[in-house]
Amino acid sequence: MNTRIRQAREADVAAILDITNHEILHSTVLYEYEPRSLETQMEWFHDKLAQGWPVLVAEVDETVVGFGTYGTFRQRIAYRFSVEHSVYVHKGHRGKSIGNALMVELICQARANGFHTMIAGIDSSNMGSVAFHRKFGFEVVGTFKEVGFKFDRWLDVLFMQLILRP
Ligand SMILES: CC(C)(COP(=O)(O)OP(=O)(O)OC[C@H]1O[C@@H](n2cnc3c(N)ncnc32)[C@H](O)[C@@H]1OP(=O)(O)O)[C@@H](O)C(=O)NCCC(=O)NCCS
Repeated sequence: MNTRIRQAREADVAAILDITNHEILHSTVLYEYEPRSLETQMEWFHDKLAQGWPVLVAEVDETVVGFGTYGTFRQRIAYRFSVEHSVYVHKGHRGKSIGNALMVELICQARANGFHTMIAGIDSSNMGSVAFHRKFGFEVVGTFKEVGFKFDRWLDVLFMQLILRP
């Protein structure tokens, strides 16, 4: 299997949308209720690019099977060396090191761009993502209780953090 990680293009946004909407509809990975439209996802993509944030895709046999990005953690200026990231792999392609390849490249780019720390907000039931992040040295730094509500239940979100050493 040949996995290629590259910067996303407009033509990839439909595949990114499919992966995103699957999680919105079937999981608590994303704290959203309604599937996004292609137009909304395209705006998200262009906003990311306009702000200089990476949107990476993982391609297997010329099919986009995952994506990863990072962006603003919090708006105020003193947070400028911190980024919040996310990585998503299509359900049918998990466990094949695709998330790994995306995460390695995101960490590499964050470090190269002078960021100091990366943060992931993860639904506390998503133990797969917690295990995944631990592989890269992320540590759980705290949990907010009952800050989300989806599928008729309260959701806790935990934050994991990696300090990027030069
Ligand atoms: C989390 C996610 C990105 C992992 O992607 P993946 O391609 O399946 O992961 P990989 O095959 O690259 O695994 C990388 C490492 O993480 C570990 N890992 C991945 N998923 C795991 C799981 N569900 N349980 C335990 N460990 C897991 C693997 O064992 C592997 O470790 P190894 O290098 O020692 O073998 C993927 O499951 C996903 O998209 N989940 C839904 C979206 C999500 O939760 N994103 C994270 C929110 S920021």
